[in-house]
Amino acid sequence: MGKATVTVIDHPLVQHKLTLMRKKNTSTTRFRDLLSEISLLLTYEVTKDLALSDVEIETPLETMHAPLLEGKKLVFVSILRAGNGFVDGMLDLVPSARVGHVGLYRDPETLQPIEYYLKLPDHLEKRQAIVVDPMLATANSAIAAVQRVKQAGARQIKFMCLLAAPEGVEAFQDAHPDVPVFTAAIDRCLNDHGYILPGLGDAGDRIYGTK
Ligand code: PRP
Ligand code: URA
Repeated sequence: MGKATVTVIDHPLVQHKLTLMRKKNTSTTRFRDLLSEISLLLTYEVTKDLALSDVEIETPLETMHAPLLEGKKLVFVSILRAGNGFVDGMLDLVPSARVGHVGLYRDPETLQPIEYYLKLPDHLEKRQAIVVDPMLATANSAIAAVQRVKQAGARQIKFMCLLAAPEGVEAFQDAHPDVPVFTAAIDRCLNDHGYILPGLGDAGDRIYGTK
């Protein structure tokens, strides 16, 4: 199987907001608001191939056939905890979406993900799933989360992040060649602690004001 695509969403509004988020003096409140705004713009791009089917409706003037989204509701799967900063904006755009959660944190020494929570909607095999986490660094977390979503039955999966490292993109594509990746930027590399350079720091800490 060939590798799925990696799409960098280079819309000027996305790039402008991302730059503001990278700045170290951006406050927690502003960072959170910007993430929510960007998530909406990214979701717009990630969902642009959703299937539509025509239904008959009545306008005030006449009957017509008009397109509506087809099939079961979308599922957004948030990788805790930073993924939740994404999901709020996504739900503004798609309020009817179902939401699943995979709780993972990286062991700071091994950089391996440790799972502490899992709750996913049912009928995943009939839904488009979009797994979200702002950061794709080593990709260990995203690889494990998508594995869980597949084990639960999902067949159509996309992965959406804000920032990716080249190492993470490659590892993710090797592990899940069937899952397309969407990101606002691919940065230079990882540092010795698995942080993205130049990056924006620890996404969870910046969203929630922890350290
Ligand atoms: C961060 C981030 C990703 C992960 C990315 O989470 O939100 O989940 O690291 O790194 P990886 O690609 O090398 O796996 P973290 O483990 O810091 O947990 P948190 O979201 O609870 O802060
Ligand atoms: N997780 C983060 O939050 N930031 C990074 O740069 C890498 C992993």
